Order: sequence, then structure tokens, then C-alpha cells
Amino acid sequence: MDGVTGALGLEADAVAEVLATATLAPSVHNTQPWRFRLGPDRIELHPDPSRRLPATDPDGRELRLACGAALFNLRLALQARGIRPIVSLLPDSAVAEVRRGGRYPADEQTRTLLAAVPARRSNRKPFRDVPVPVAHRQALVRAAERERSWLHVVADREQRHRVRELVARAHRAQAGDPAVRAELTAWTGDRPHDGGVPVASAGIRPAPQDEWALRDFEAVERVPGKDYEPDPLVVVLCSFYEGVLGELQAGQALQRVLLTGTALGLSASFLSQPIEVRPVRDELRRSLGGMVVPQAVLRIGYGSPVPPTPRRAVPDLLMEPVTR
Ligand SMILES: Cc1cc2nc3c(=O)[nH]c(=O)nc-3n(C[C@H](O)[C@H](O)[C@H](O)COP(=O)(O)O)c2cc1C
Repeated sequence: MDGVTGALGLEADAVAEVLATATLAPSVHNTQPWRFRLGPDRIELHPDPSRRLPATDPDGRELRLACGAALFNLRLALQARGIRPIVSLLPDSAVAEVRRGGRYPADEQTRTLLAAVPARRSNRKPFRDVPVPVAHRQALVRAAERERSWLHVVADREQRHRVRELVARAHRAQAGDPAVRAELTAWTGDRPHDGGVPVASAGIRPAPQDEWALRDFEAVERVPGKDYEPDPLVVVLCSFYEGVLGELQAGQALQRVLLTGTALGLSASFLSQPIEVRPVRDELRRSLGGMVVPQAVLRIGYGSPVPPTPRRAVPDLLMEPVTR
């Protein structure tokens, strides 16, 4: 593949596959804000600041979550090839530098999660009205813990009501913000070579009876009577501390949670409005006890199939190689 070189003892073709796996990570509005720099002894993952959304994501927090999720995929792809990845998080320059830590046979869980990478999709359609079993919830909580993050299950009735209100309030705030609306419009619809959220992935049009306010990606009108499930599992993925490192860890945890869910037959979509609107995020944090830092709100359940979203080609994501 054009411009892809060998790295970490892998041939160029294998490196291209590893990078393609990394790019299947989720990103806000499918902006895909990552780039790669290859050297014989390393793969570096860098943020692409030109793909940050200044109004929706002024601090680059969601950009870093997406890069963390791509890093998790990269780790899996290397493990599946028998390479133990040694990851250094470099908050001041790159997102991460990945080196080879010797040979290491992939275990069953790695293979299961890797198989889930192309199957995972944000699913904005209504879910079946079937509860997520407690054992599955516990598996999701453990997945976040393994990546040094915290998954809060919004189970308590009062807390569900509170979180729902915060989602609705943040949704209204963003609907009244022309710059946030402009970004949504710019990244909605078909941009086949660049990313964005195609109409086929947009779910159904929001309606006043919806309990949880999903983002309006100008989806198809809903058939009367086809409403959202009344009681999805709602979880808040949190980091243990504020700042770049916490966000990069939360991004990896996000992807491990999503892939664990996919492997269990679960679907998920995001409800990011209450995290993006800063004062609402502070309130959400207080309502969770104030100790952990909310990074992503997810709605989880049993969905019907949805198509994949486009990804940029790997050669377009390469920076100048490392020369020594
Ligand atoms: C940090 C982050 C925030 C996101 N927020 C939302 C959101 O609020 N609403 C939504 O529908 N999708 C949200 N998404 C999902 C992206 O739109 C989705 O990942 C992207 O379009 C690629 O599609 P895929 O997840 O199906 O691969 C978010 C993704 C990330 C990583």
C-alpha cells in the first residue's frame, strides 16, 4: 500500500492492516482525527488537530477519546499478530508511541475483541424492549476497569430521571448554538472520502415523545408507532482524573467496553450532549458523586443491523516516517 513501510518487525502489508484496524474506531461525527508515523521500531499515533470540531469539542477532549479508541484497536491488532505492544502515552506531542515488547501469543479474549472491531457500529435505531442481563452489565463494567477507567450504570430511578433531564437540557443548549449546528450539518450526509455520518447510519428522526434526546443527523422520518425503547441501559464512562492522560485512558476503555458489548450481541449509541456542554457536564459529575470525571454517555441494548460508516484510506493518514 502506498507509503506504508514495515514496522515492529512486520511487513508493510501487515502494518497497513494493523492501521486499518485502528481506523475502525468511533469518533465524534466520524471525523477520524488520527494520523500515524511509522519507524522501524515504532508506530506513533498522533492527533489530527485539523479534524477537531471547535464548537462541539473546544478542548479536543473528544478528539483524544477517539484517538484512545483507535489506540485500543491498534493494540488488539498487534496482539493478534503475536506482538506484545509496549505503549507510551505522550500527552505533549503524539498520543502514543507503540513499540514491540517481544512475542506473545494472542489469547481467546483478544481474538474475540478483534473479531468484534469490524462488527461494532454506532446504532441509532430503536432497540428491542429487552433488558440487558446483569452478567452482561458486569462484563461491561469490568471492561472499563481493565483500562483503568470506571463505568457507572445509571440504574436508580431517580438518577435516570436526573441524567435524562441533563441530556435534554444540553441537547436544547446545542440546538440553540449556530456553530454546533453548523458542525453537525457539515458532517452529516455522504462524504465518502472524508468521513461524516451518512444518512443510512443516522437512525430515525427525533420526536417529542422520545425519553432520551438523540442527536438529529437529519435521519429518515420515523414510521408512526416505531418509537425508541422506553428503558435502555444507560451508562456513563468515566476517567479517574481530569486531563489528557485520563482522556486517552478513557478512550481505550470506551473501545474495550464497546467491543465487549458487540461480542455479547449488544448495540450502543452515544448521548454526548451532557458531556460536551461544560456546565451540564459539571452537574452530571456532581450527580455521580463528584469523584470520577464523566467522558461518554452510552445507550445500550439489542438493536437491528446497521451499515458501516466510511473510513479514510490508510495512505492518507501517514505522516513523514521516522528516519534514523
Ligand atoms: C467521543 C465520541 C462522541 C460521540 N458522540 C455521539 C453522539 O453524541 N451522538 C451520536 O449519535 N454519535 C456519537 N458518536 C458516534 C460517532 O458519530 C460514530 O462513532 C462515527 O459516526 C463512526 O461511526 P461508527 O461508530 O458506526 O463506526 C460519538 C463518538 C465518539 C468517539
